[in-house]
Amino acid sequence: MHEIIHAVPSEWAASAHVDINTYQDMYRRSVEDPDGFWREQAARLDWIKPFTKVKNTSFAPGNIDIRWFEDGTLNVAANCLDRHLATRGDKVAILWEGDDPSESRSITYRELHAEVCRFANVLKALGVSKGDRVTIYLPMIPEAAMAMLACARIGAIHSIVFGGFSPDSLAGRIGDCRSTLVITADEGLRGGKKVPLKHNTDSALTKTIGDEKVLVIRRTGGEVAMHAGRDFWYHEMAATVSDACPPEEMSAEDPLFILYTSGSTGRPKGVLHTTGGYLLHAAMTHELVFDLKENDIFWCTADVGWVTGHSYIVYGPLANGATSLMFEGVPNYPTNARFWQVIDKHKVTIFYTAPTAIRALMQAGDGPVKSTSRASLRLLGSVGEPINPEAWEWYYRVVGDNRCPIVDTWWQTETGGHLITPMPGATPLKPGSASWPFFGVQPAIVDAEGQIMEGACEGNLVILDAWPGMMRTVYGDHERFEQTYFSAYKNMYFTGDGCRRDADGYYWITGRVDDVINVSGHRMGTAEVESALVAHSGVSEAAVVGYPHDIKGQGIYAYVTLMAGVAPSDALRKELAGWVRKEIGPIATPDLIQFAPGLPKTRSGKIMRRILRKIAEDEFGALGDISTLADPAVVEDLIANRQNRK
Ligand code: WTA
Repeated sequence: MHEIIHAVPSEWAASAHVDINTYQDMYRRSVEDPDGFWREQAARLDWIKPFTKVKNTSFAPGNIDIRWFEDGTLNVAANCLDRHLATRGDKVAILWEGDDPSESRSITYRELHAEVCRFANVLKALGVSKGDRVTIYLPMIPEAAMAMLACARIGAIHSIVFGGFSPDSLAGRIGDCRSTLVITADEGLRGGKKVPLKHNTDSALTKTIGDEKVLVIRRTGGEVAMHAGRDFWYHEMAATVSDACPPEEMSAEDPLFILYTSGSTGRPKGVLHTTGGYLLHAAMTHELVFDLKENDIFWCTADVGWVTGHSYIVYGPLANGATSLMFEGVPNYPTNARFWQVIDKHKVTIFYTAPTAIRALMQAGDGPVKSTSRASLRLLGSVGEPINPEAWEWYYRVVGDNRCPIVDTWWQTETGGHLITPMPGATPLKPGSASWPFFGVQPAIVDAEGQIMEGACEGNLVILDAWPGMMRTVYGDHERFEQTYFSAYKNMYFTGDGCRRDADGYYWITGRVDDVINVSGHRMGTAEVESALVAHSGVSEAAVVGYPHDIKGQGIYAYVTLMAGVAPSDALRKELAGWVRKEIGPIATPDLIQFAPGLPKTRSGKIMRRILRKIAEDEFGALGDISTLADPAVVEDLIANRQNRK
């Protein structure tokens, strides 16, 4: 098979921070002498008290323990703000583009510093102190970044909940980490539509312990109910506090944030990241993978509710003193040219988005792209799911005018930052491959027995040793941390992804091998959707699988067994889709629902998902062995009534 390779352009090799020789030398050193390598790299950060210990990590069964720079102290907000004031005080830190194209704001480092201090003082006035958990449920407005940095400044642990999640999902996350404060806005604005965030927060708080306070940012001016003694307006409180707030001295291993993410089983897990290692990894990858230069305008289109927004809208860019563009809206509002217009308007040089957006915009044709210049662009990035070579080529040819390298960055909420990714001055690009490991990252591919395979092969992706940005635990449940990531293969971190490695040592992520599906780049646990479905009074049982979807990557396919006496109908299908939407949030809405009188089960009662996946893929000719089923006849009915017919 002929493989397309885009060689590193010579001007990139000459001017980038990392060329191929530097990559190879640094990579070798990072795995042969991690202490020496990371001791040097840690100089990227300003430490209050320098560390003496570098790496102290164990993947040993029963003793999963990850510590980096453990005796050093620092403050994340001081690293993202204070240290830039002398040289970059008037540089734009956050360039905000509103949902409405006529609205934008530029906030300099000096202004952001003052506002974060003010915000931190508001948090203190509300009784928040070091170690307390604060839930943030905000739209994409600068105050979201300010709230994060204000928490970091005083040592509070933030937990951001994506604004698209339902009141129930919000309540679960507030309760799990026992947040004492929820920061929200009156309403969000996306694609011209209002999102009732305060109203959702009010509903959520009817399902929590009830001792939480609420800080409300005014975004739209929409009418909201304020509960005296519980709810406070940010603008009112901010007017009463000073804009001076000294940063708290934090240990490198003090928690910075919790971010809930979906797994194979049960409720979302609170992924915990700490201070020193996380910030170093975010800053270093942001500089080297995106080859950041002083005058770049960097735009990551993610929402701060996801890890990509944490690491590459806020912490990485601001730690590096970069200008980070923050976009409130959506790619197709008011038109499909919006992304490209924003790039022209703000002279964006580095653009980082998700394959699902690229595929959707590709469907709209080249016209909207070609109506803009995009002359400022020099580098493109992709994240969130495998990018198919057709979308890669379109992104490269049409969006980047054959001029801009693409960094296809593979990583996870758990990893804190990029783990496998090209670097534009070093890596010849193969469309669809995340290519080579970042510094300090030792990937391996294991077979079903957990044996590490060499050379070209395909299997499950594991990481053999710790890196500074990795998660430290599942909040409040260290056993679940070990169980989820370290029990499948001993002494290795299991990613949950399948992967192929080619003869040139390039890694090709093939997608999740567990019961996590990736819908438009958003992680969704099939178990979560199933438990939402069975919570409906008409449903007796449900099984959910992913199936290939042209735009979303994967769609959600739900098999539903109804209670006796409940009749299947299109109206009920709609109702169930709406129900899941309400229970979890719009991103969890099933695309296809099949009413199934019975599900394929083994004699011990285990649902055979392999069969359900095949039928959902419309590949029922290859069901494999079904002789172990308790009732093989159910399969015929499932095939006859399948909902995805190619
Ligand atoms: C998938 C998002 C292929 C993968 C940063 C991973 C990718 C999951 C890529 C994590 C990529 C992310 N190529 N697959 N470049 N980036 N993934 O936690 O399956 O929301 O395990 O983190 O997304 O999703 P999460």
